Amino acid sequence: MILKSRLTYSVCKTLYKRMTQYQSFSNQRNISKYKILGIETTCDDTGAAVVDESAHILGNALHSQTSISVSLGGVLPPYAKALHEKHIHNIVQDALTQAGVEIQDLDAVAVAVEPGLPLSLDVGLKHAQKLVMENRVPLIPVHHMEAHALTARMIDSVEFPFLVLLVSGGHCLLAVARDIDDFLLLGSSIDNAPGEIFDKVARRMKLKNLPQCYGKSGGASIELMAQQGDPDMFEAPHVYTKSRSCNFSFAGMKAHYCTYIEQEEKKQGIVASGVISNAADVCASFQFAVLRHMCRPIERAFRFCDYNNLLPETKTLVVSGGVACNQYLRAGLQRVCDKYGARLVVPPPHLCTDNGIMIAWNGMEKLLAGRGIADDPIAVKFKPKSPLGQDISEEVTRENIKVIPMKL
Ligand code: KG4
Ligand code: ZN
Repeated sequence: MILKSRLTYSVCKTLYKRMTQYQSFSNQRNISKYKILGIETTCDDTGAAVVDESAHILGNALHSQTSISVSLGGVLPPYAKALHEKHIHNIVQDALTQAGVEIQDLDAVAVAVEPGLPLSLDVGLKHAQKLVMENRVPLIPVHHMEAHALTARMIDSVEFPFLVLLVSGGHCLLAVARDIDDFLLLGSSIDNAPGEIFDKVARRMKLKNLPQCYGKSGGASIELMAQQGDPDMFEAPHVYTKSRSCNFSFAGMKAHYCTYIEQEEKKQGIVASGVISNAADVCASFQFAVLRHMCRPIERAFRFCDYNNLLPETKTLVVSGGVACNQYLRAGLQRVCDKYGARLVVPPPHLCTDNGIMIAWNGMEKLLAGRGIADDPIAVKFKPKSPLGQDISEEVTRENIKVIPMKL
């Protein structure tokens, strides 16, 4: 292995020593085994995992609050914080035990510090700081959305630069990933994130009361229901952004479906916890509307990248984040990629939703590149709001690229 680290003794003496030790050990035994613990607590999932530099997952533990958040009607930050505090120690220990390592055996601890809920970020960061200070191990702060983007490189040979769409409960970002810490933001949602409207429409439909949806996220419930539905039974609204941008807008779609559901409930005489009889059709139509809206900015992004030579001949679109679990959306995005001669790479569902593995892997990418290791772990602060890379969305809009949308 060629170690690309640019670290010096003054930056991190301990790490340098460990790297040198491992390097000579690896050479002798012909194995390479840096190991990193990753900790994720940006929202309502407490995750920890140990990965090695060959992208092997040595240990992985997750406490998901999804079913609790669904029953509470959304993520309640103080509640999420209390559950992170309750579970973090055991989740980290579980990941370490599965991996058969102690903290002292690790080359670094990576922790998601941006963006996210302040109360949740605080728990993960404090725990990571305690571990590294007690065990004299380097700390690598990680950007949660960058971690979602780079997960694809764990499972497939995805070289920079590539186009990436990140769709989750809190974000909708379309960017060119040029390096592990170098992103060009082409567009984002100007209002709601897609996962957020999946959750809100599912909640308005009261899908959690159906036994088949019990404990599932709004997105997973809608996907399940839509499998039995006919999207043509209910016309999907067209939602346009004002300019020819790579931005998204989901608020109008949410309002449209919530109003329709309310009217249908009245028409059908649905009371209390009841669910409208045509819920499956509404779900299918909603999913179609989300897909159709997502496609146009992606098409425009491919064109913008072509005009500006931002992607190589063999183009790749990576899609990640919780909403990327959706198989219907994946199939639709595959068609867009086919049109532009691009390869679609989507991590498996358990790597799309929040997890410790992606944080550990992002830490590993940084370690191998010799970047991002905190000089002073105790001085690291979390950042609840944190953009992804350099925002060039206005430049994209200025190019005024016309797209004739494909027929889905
Ligand atoms: O990435 P993630 O685990 O957490 C955030 O960073 O937000 O994403 C969670 C979001 C939720 O809004 C959830 O409803 C959505 O991902 N989601 C889905 C599916 N599974 C989870 N959305 C659509 N279809 C799915 N199958
Ligand atoms: Zn996420």
